[in-house]
Amino acid sequence: MNTGVLPAMAGKGDHIFIDELNHASIIDGCRMSLAQRIKYKHNDIFDLGRKLNRVKNSAGVKLIVTDGIFSMDGDIAKLDRIVMEANKHNAFTFVDCAHAIGVLGNHGAGTASHYGITDQVDLIGGTFSKSMASVGGFVAGNKDVIDYLNHASRSYMFSASLPPASTASVLASLRLIKSDDSFRQRLWENTRYALRLMREHNLDIGLAETPIIPIYIRDSILTFRVARKLLDKGIYVNPVVAPGVKENDALLRFSLTAAHSKEQIEHAIEIISQVVKSYVPKESLCH
Ligand SMILES: Cc1ncc(COP(=O)(O)O)c(C=O)c1O
Repeated sequence: MNTGVLPAMAGKGDHIFIDELNHASIIDGCRMSLAQRIKYKHNDIFDLGRKLNRVKNSAGVKLIVTDGIFSMDGDIAKLDRIVMEANKHNAFTFVDCAHAIGVLGNHGAGTASHYGITDQVDLIGGTFSKSMASVGGFVAGNKDVIDYLNHASRSYMFSASLPPASTASVLASLRLIKSDDSFRQRLWENTRYALRLMREHNLDIGLAETPIIPIYIRDSILTFRVARKLLDKGIYVNPVVAPGVKENDALLRFSLTAAHSKEQIEHAIEIISQVVKSYVPKESLCH
């Protein structure tokens, strides 16, 4: 989705502003565009404003792109403030809600809905591979922009469409997400519970606030070792190392679903805490 949207939305002489922790596919989309790519510090609206100011005399398009929920660090984009900054600088906004659809906002509509600003964000995109457990993605926006993308997005025009079975499973998931808030309520109960337990265990989980919870190990080899040991004990967590994150931010990505029980969460965190403490130097843990 990002590699289809970004090169179509911004080209030579334009500027794309990206959060330094945006997903790799956003960076790939920028690389495929001829626009200038300008990184701002993670969720730092002051830095974004400063960088927008630097090109204030440019006649080029200014497009700000952010993850809605950051895919590795599990925090939420300050989208309300990004939109305010965009309005000040006559910039467009595009939020990638890959991890926010089905999780944040009214009936799981995503990050813009979470802040009550759906009509103020120019483009909302996402994938079907997270809460909808399928493949493919989407982008939504005003009709003129979507008409334009239908005729300018090369990966949309020149790749085959989704297989019917994947599309049907996305539609079935969407119906559930929209019609039954109880899944999302359970997901957030699980999230709050896991965040509390992890903090009680002094695990280093940074600014985590969503069902994606990073447990920072801060060393790639150690991260693989801990993940392997956990797998031996029946706990699967994704090891995330460079270039997915900076070397010093190597982490285990713990992801929750509505289907996890309290007992499973307690058991997993107990084991994770024991294993992490046996591998990670004591001074690196949170106190
Ligand atoms: C924020 C974000 N955007 C895009 C993607 C790409 O999704 P897909 O693998 O469905 O293309 C991901 C996947 O992890 C993601 O986290």
